[in-house]
Amino acid sequence: MKLNNGIFLLVAIAAGAAEAVRTMIPKTSFNSQADFDADWSYNYPWGTDHNGGARMDPAQVKFANGMLTLTARKVTGQKDAVHGGQNIKINYLSGAISAKEHFNVSRGGGYDFSGEFKATTTKGTWPAFWLTAVDSWPPEIDMAEWKGSGKISFNTFNTSSVLSWKDVTYSNPDQFHSIKCEVRDINQKDVSVKFYMDGSLIATHVGGGFFGKPMYLIINLQMEGSSGSPGPSSDTLYQVRNLEVLSYNP
Ligand SMILES: *[C@@H]1O[C@H](CO)[C@@H](O)[C@H](O)[C@H]1NC(C)=O
Ligand SMILES: *[C@@H]1O[C@H](CO)[C@@H](O)[C@H](O)[C@H]1NC(C)=O
Repeated sequence: MKLNNGIFLLVAIAAGAAEAVRTMIPKTSFNSQADFDADWSYNYPWGTDHNGGARMDPAQVKFANGMLTLTARKVTGQKDAVHGGQNIKINYLSGAISAKEHFNVSRGGGYDFSGEFKATTTKGTWPAFWLTAVDSWPPEIDMAEWKGSGKISFNTFNTSSVLSWKDVTYSNPDQFHSIKCEVRDINQKDVSVKFYMDGSLIATHVGGGFFGKPMYLIINLQMEGSSGSPGPSSDTLYQVRNLEVLSYNP
């Protein structure tokens, strides 16, 4: 009896180690307005503007049947954005969403962020799936971004000048590609970041001092900025499905 219970306990612990502790965002979050509202807010956590030529607008965010669609539309007559003391001309209205919960790697824990993405690599389009600091920056982990150059980029910033990055040629942008990012505690100071595309490990980075620092999760379609200008005059679509976030934090 005692032996059997001991074996049962060991098996349970071994199985538990691989199990997510909690589904933070389920694959159903883009099914209905109620599902969306449970997990997401419109725009960036800080507002409608950031570092490119698009202003975010909830009207450019659509979702149905588990699929998110962000559309960037060329416009005129918008006032400039201001970022880092610079004025930026706004040439588009587009969509951004951010998760209501924050993500803070705790001892022995971490997260898996995954989904399927249909993203353009056309010049002037800048779709992204990323984590950034709630408090002082960094941390920032760009789990996928497409900067209008035919490539997909994966970045982890220790500081603005010390970063790990991997740029990979992005084939078939007209099709969905799966992206997964595993973020894990290493030593209660740094976190490991593993980037997967279409099931293959593409890069492993270390986020210096990311442990215990809350992060926002953002999905947005920025335009121009780092992806060059001018961007397209026709509408740009960025679609995401099967988006899921699992927490392994004990
Ligand atoms: C970021 O910091 C971690 C922890 O010190 C280190 O392992 C990693 O190499 C650093 N990244 C870069 C690009 O230097
Ligand atoms: C983040 O996690 C750390 C370590 O687990 C904890 O000490 C800290 O209070 C958390 N911070 C927030 C803002 O939740």
